Amino acid sequence: MEDLESLDGVGPSIASKLRAAGYTTIEAVAVTPPMEIVERTGIGLGTVLKIQESARKMLSADFKTAREYYEHRKSMRRCTTGSKKLDEILGGGIETQAITELIGEYGSGKTQLCLMLSVTAQLPYDRGGLEGKVAFIDTEGTFMPERIYQIASGLGLNPNEVANNIFVARAYNSSHQCLLIDRLFTLCPENNVKLVVVDSMISHFRGEYIGRETLSERQQKLNQYLHKLLRLAEAYNLAVVITNQVQANPAAFFTDPNRPAGGNIMAHACTHRVYLRKGSKNVRVAKIIDSPYLPEREANFIITEKGIADVEGED
Ligand code: GTP
Ligand code: MG
Repeated sequence: MEDLESLDGVGPSIASKLRAAGYTTIEAVAVTPPMEIVERTGIGLGTVLKIQESARKMLSADFKTAREYYEHRKSMRRCTTGSKKLDEILGGGIETQAITELIGEYGSGKTQLCLMLSVTAQLPYDRGGLEGKVAFIDTEGTFMPERIYQIASGLGLNPNEVANNIFVARAYNSSHQCLLIDRLFTLCPENNVKLVVVDSMISHFRGEYIGRETLSERQQKLNQYLHKLLRLAEAYNLAVVITNQVQANPAAFFTDPNRPAGGNIMAHACTHRVYLRKGSKNVRVAKIIDSPYLPEREANFIITEKGIADVEGED
């Protein structure tokens, strides 16, 4: 990774101010809102804008060889969901350097899966973890710390330690949510965060931007922040998991009448889309619906007190 000093307008003193405020990489400088950098570093706005222009130029103008690209991809890791079947259709688990979108109706298990991953991400590599901490943006007030304790105990981990490693923020509206996402560019590298959860990505946006005239503004904002999340995932080799709701589509008589919210923006920005639905009792069915290389397959899993697991007796 290039040094901050390679940016136009950044000498040792400015570089140290940026680092002290947590902007340790060119990516972080490029994607943070300018006023945030001004406030956190005391550097003047004019200078910040100049530095950011240079950072953005460097990122987009910076060609990589296919070999470099390949080496970077090789550092990609996967995090277990707790269910072997689900891991299998995901190609081995939830990927770093990518956004995985969990889509499903009420009670389909999106939040439960996010809570499970918040624990498994902390496991060592040889147990399917990412050996990292977790940042969890909760927009619906459904983050249940008790579940973290149950799941951690189920995996034989020290629940207090596990809970200490999860940074949770409750986002009260969409602009607060965006602010929190911007903060991740500091929080993640400083704390070795390897999993970022946004549960749910879209509920505030849907609730606040009502009516056709605000739709393009909403989609633009959503697009901007999804791309920030993707850049975060790539820059810090971490996994991003976001949840999404389904909206009724009365026009579809023969297919599943529910389709993911957020339209094309959501569909294009997310690397892998996983559709969850309720089966019988506590069984859930996951299906890969959109992925650059994972085939469209289904897997069953169950939700238990200890988190996510395979359906007993199924193979
Ligand atoms: P929305 O956020 O409302 O859209 O739903 P969601 O997809 O996030 O659903 P969530 O992950 O919250 O799933 C809730 C379901 O998980 C409940 O209906 C229960 O069936 C199941 N569940 C949650 N906690 C437990 C538990 O401790 N034991 C068991 N067996 N099941 C649980
Ligand atoms: Mg939920």
